[in-house]
Amino acid sequence: MSSTAGAKEDKQGEMKVVCVTGAGGFIGSWVVKELLHHGYRVRGTARDPADAKNAHLLALEGAEERLTVCRADLLNYDSLRAAFTGCQGVFHVASPVSNDPELVPVAVEGTRNVISAAADAGVRRVVFTSSYGAVHMDPKRSPDAVLDETCWSDYDYCKQSGNHYCCAKMKAEMTATEEAARRGLELAVVVPSITMGPMLQQALNFSSNHVACYLTGAKPTYANTVAAYTDVHDVARAHVLAYERPDARGRYLCVGAVMHRAHLVQLLKDLFPEYTITAKYEDGGKPMVQPYKFSNQRLRDLGLEFTPFRETIYETVTCLQKNGHLPLPAATVAPDRAHL
Ligand SMILES: NC(=O)c1ccc[n+]([C@@H]2O[C@H](COP(=O)([O-])OP(=O)(O)OC[C@H]3O[C@@H](n4cnc5c(N)ncnc54)[C@H](OP(=O)(O)O)[C@@H]3O)[C@@H](O)[C@H]2O)c1
Repeated sequence: MSSTAGAKEDKQGEMKVVCVTGAGGFIGSWVVKELLHHGYRVRGTARDPADAKNAHLLALEGAEERLTVCRADLLNYDSLRAAFTGCQGVFHVASPVSNDPELVPVAVEGTRNVISAAADAGVRRVVFTSSYGAVHMDPKRSPDAVLDETCWSDYDYCKQSGNHYCCAKMKAEMTATEEAARRGLELAVVVPSITMGPMLQQALNFSSNHVACYLTGAKPTYANTVAAYTDVHDVARAHVLAYERPDARGRYLCVGAVMHRAHLVQLLKDLFPEYTITAKYEDGGKPMVQPYKFSNQRLRDLGLEFTPFRETIYETVTCLQKNGHLPLPAATVAPDRAHL
């Protein structure tokens, strides 16, 4: 294999090759970008590499020399095995992201296939993308608890409350852990909360829409609820740190800010006063739900510095505007017109 400028090499002078599943998605694209930046040769998987929705990958810095995108489906072992051949590491980011009950078997079987194909292909190390949905969903836990890597959501509660996404992420993470141990693969698990920040891809992903809907009027009210957020740059860096630190094993909570929906809406109002932002509270009169606390110490010990949430939310909204997912408010357009 010939070396290219800026490429990362191992002790034998071979270029380091890694594979990222779901390379064209929101987080997958940022993981690919970060790996290219670190000098890796990257193989990304997509179900349809030729689809225009993946075109942004080829425009990433270093992509021309060091990125290939190959066809693979999580439910097709052979396609994964082919993608992983010659790789030292696999980042398993791909998963259906919705609340369709059908996503549970796909996420679980897909993860089993990924671990099995990685072990058969001689991969040494896997980084799995979980979700804080696998950690915090437990109504019996005290609101004073500080959640860390030992915490798991209550599976029965998630199932009974129809939260199929959390069920899928819990079961998929458990499958990854069991299968990796059984096959002798090193495994690190990055556990992000709701991930925000600029999109590299054109299509609007689920978590970016979480913010867009308060600025477009699509959501007439906001709920009495608390959520945790993380910057997509931090999530990508966490994946690479967890891969590169040879002693990194097990879960790493990747949680930046925790806030009540009322505070998210207020922050949007402060930063973007020109929009008509959702102002009606669903639970008027009832006390505000108290936020959980999360420990992100394990990732900070690996060297990750978390981005301030105000910066993240600002970049999210300006990217949504640039990509045409948010109309530019009249106040921004008017001064330009005045100069005509
Ligand atoms: N965004 C968040 O807030 C957040 C928070 C915590 C954890 N996560 C986790 O992060 C990962 C990426 O999420 P995202 O937000 O980046 O979502 P996304 O933009 O919707 O990306 C999902 C990716 O998964 C791929 N995929 C779905 N089903 C597949 C299948 N059957 N076979 C192969 N690929 C498949 C999609 O590839 P195609 O292009 O082929 O459709 C897509 O690239 C997921 O594991 C998600 O659970 C996300």
